[in-house]
Parts: sequence; C-alpha cells; structure tokens
Amino acid sequence: MSILVTGGAGYIGSHTCVELLNEGYQIVVLDNFYNSKPQSIKRIKELTGKDFPFYECDILDREGLRKVFKENNIDCVIHFAGLKAVGESVKIPLKYYYNNVTGTIVLCEVMAEYGCKNIVFSSSATVYGMPKKMPMTETDPVDIAGITNPYGRTKLMIEEMLRDVYRSDNEWNIALLRYFNPIGAHESGKLGEDPNGIPNNLMPYISQVAIGKLPVLSIYGDDYPTHDGTGVRDYIHVVDLAKGHVKAVEWINLKKGVDAFNLGTGTGYSVLDLVNSFSKVNDIKINYKIVGRRAGDIAVCYSDPAKAKEVLGWTAQLGIDDMCRDTWRWQKLNPNGFDE
Ligand code: NAD
Ligand code: UFG
Repeated sequence: MSILVTGGAGYIGSHTCVELLNEGYQIVVLDNFYNSKPQSIKRIKELTGKDFPFYECDILDREGLRKVFKENNIDCVIHFAGLKAVGESVKIPLKYYYNNVTGTIVLCEVMAEYGCKNIVFSSSATVYGMPKKMPMTETDPVDIAGITNPYGRTKLMIEEMLRDVYRSDNEWNIALLRYFNPIGAHESGKLGEDPNGIPNNLMPYISQVAIGKLPVLSIYGDDYPTHDGTGVRDYIHVVDLAKGHVKAVEWINLKKGVDAFNLGTGTGYSVLDLVNSFSKVNDIKINYKIVGRRAGDIAVCYSDPAKAKEVLGWTAQLGIDDMCRDTWRWQKLNPNGFDE
C-alpha cells in the first residue's frame, strides 16, 4: 500500500512519515518547503533506514501533482500541506483560502483523475469555535460564524467540502482528524518543530526561552476561570498524533465513508502546568511574566477522545512530562532547528 504524504517535510508530517515507514507502508512525500526544510526529509530517511520518493511540489501545481500520481501507484493521501499561522491568516486571508482550500480542491481533483479516493485530512480543534461545553465531542455543532479566524475557517470549509465530495461519490473514504495541541518531538532528538521567526505557540516559545534565544515567556492572562487562571489546552505528543494517522489509514481501508475524529489526550493542562513540567523534567528555570489576554483565545479547550479509541483503536500513550522532555532534547541537539 502506497501513501502520498503532502506537507510531509513539516512538523506533524515528518513524524507521521517515520511511523508509516516503521509500520511497513510505502510512502511518497511532497512538500514545497514553504514552512519546512529538505533536512527533515534526510532525517526521516536516517531515522528509519528507508528510502522513498520525494517531490518538491506545490499542491496548487496541477501538472506537478499529476506527475506524482503518474509515477507512483498511490492508494491513499494523508494531506498535511497547508498554512497554519492563525495571526497571519487574519492579515493575509486570501493566501490562506487559496493555499488551503484551493490547494485541497486541486489535490482532490487530481486524486479522482487517478482513481485514488482515500484521504486523511489534517483538521483542527479550531473548527469547534467558541465552545459551549467541555470536553469537545465530534457531535458538537460546528458553525463557520463561531470560528474566530480565517485559518480556522479554511479547516471547516475543507471538512464540509470533503463531506460534499463523499455525498457526490460514495467511493470516497475520508478521515477528518481534528488535532488538539500537538507538541513534543521525536525521542531520538532528530525531528521536531522548527518554527520560522518568533514562535506563536506556547511550547516552541518555552523551549526558545530555555535555550536562551528569547529572554522571557509572556503568559497571556492569569484571570481565566481555570485552576490557576491561565489558559488550559489538550496537549498531545506529536508521535502519538502521528500514530493516530496510521490508525486512520487502517480505518480508511475498511471503506467506511466519511467521519471526523478528535485526536487529543482528553486531559487539559494550563500554561503554568506546562511551564512547571518543563522546568521540573529538564531542570531548567523558565523566565516568565504575566501579561494581558491574547485576543481570540479561549479559556479552556480539551477533547473527548473516546470516538478515536472506539472506532480507530487509538489512544494517546505519552504524557506531559514526555512532551517536555522530548521537546527539550530536540531543542538542545538542534539549537538552530534543521539549519546545520
Ligand atoms: P507545518 O507547517 O510544519 O507543515 C505543513 C507543511 O506543508 C510544510 O512543510 C509546508 O512547507 C507544506 N506546505 C504548505 N503549503 C503547501 C503547498 N501549497 N504545497 C505543498 N506543500 C505545502 O505544519 P504542521 O504543524 O506539521 O501542520 C500540518 C497540518 O496540520 C496543517 O494542515 C495544519 O493546519 C494542521 N494542524 C496543525 C496544528 C498544529 O498545532 N501544529 C493543529 C491543528 C491542525
Ligand atoms: N500562550 C501564552 N504565551 C505564548 C503563547 C501561548 O501564554 O507565548 C498561551 C495561550 O494563551 C493559550 C496556550 O498558551 O492559552 C496555548 O496557546 P498556543 O498558541 O500554543 O495554542 P492555541 O490553543 O492558541 O492554538 C493552537 C494552534 C491552532 C489550533 C489550535 C487547536 O495554534 O492553529 O491549537 O488545535 F487551531
């Protein structure tokens, strides 16, 4: 079975390639390196001792995609390629809609041309918008008007579009995976998150403070209705998340149509919980200061992961201490990310 991984050089994609190769799948990877580096492809090969075809290709490039499908017998696509910076999406929405939505349309059209109708899509907890209750379950209503930014709206639009594709042609099998907050790194220290510029997300910010690249972490608000006043999220180890994709491919092979699954641990941790765990596990003090709330943030967000357990047979295995330990190992061994 051959799987095309779009965006496979990126953070979650690279970890998923490793898990797929370790499980014996054949993979073909494509990426335009907009937000990643060729070095990650080299590391995947080093880590697994396996080779695979790689294409430097944009999902908007129809001819480029056709070449990938022509040269390989692709059974299933895991579709990570997309832009993901929430703040940037507010400033340049059209780029987000074009890359994420149009890119997915072109990809699905080319897939159909080559008779490949199996896709696993990287969605996000952001589709739930402002939650009315916790934990979030797949049956909770999703409403485009409740989503606070264009990035999130591209995810819900693509989910709905893929459901329509299935309605029009029941030969499609589509897994919509709603990730909560992926953090951590491969335990080898060879793969991890390598953000451009100053990180927007909490964990990469903490690890850059730890290594001395940034002086202090700003904690956005300590007056939320949570156990310590700081925001609560469902952090999930990226390797657990990657394994969820292997399970989704197995589910796709059962030809079950279209469905959405939360991929989270089901446990919420606050900003201070994460800072304290990072400090304790790695024996490093993290400088922080409390500042005002960040616009658009919600107080609490965590998943009900029961459906993924029941239907996909997947549960997260790693805890917050593993996530902090592995992030720090990656950061220490690669202070400049993939730039050697
Ligand atoms: P990432 O930026 O590390 O990986 C995405 C990859 O896609 C990058 O390597 C980038 O170069 C590539 N890419 C982007 N546009 C492309 C295009 N037009 N053609 C070809 N390649 C393209 O991000 P990630 O954290 O690994 O996220 C992967 C997917 O998961 C994204 O779709 C993202 O929206 C989604 N997601 C991420 C998170 C998160 O917190 N990291 C949460 C929920 C959902
Ligand atoms: N935070 C800080 N300081 C920082 C960065 C973050 O205090 O420098 C806080 C936030 O206020 C929030 C928590 O840390 O309470 C987590 O923030 P992140 O930016 O790491 O993650 P979010 O939950 O805001 O958003 C992430 C992705 C979205 C995705 C969402 C759900 O960035 O794309 O998870 O999957 F939609």
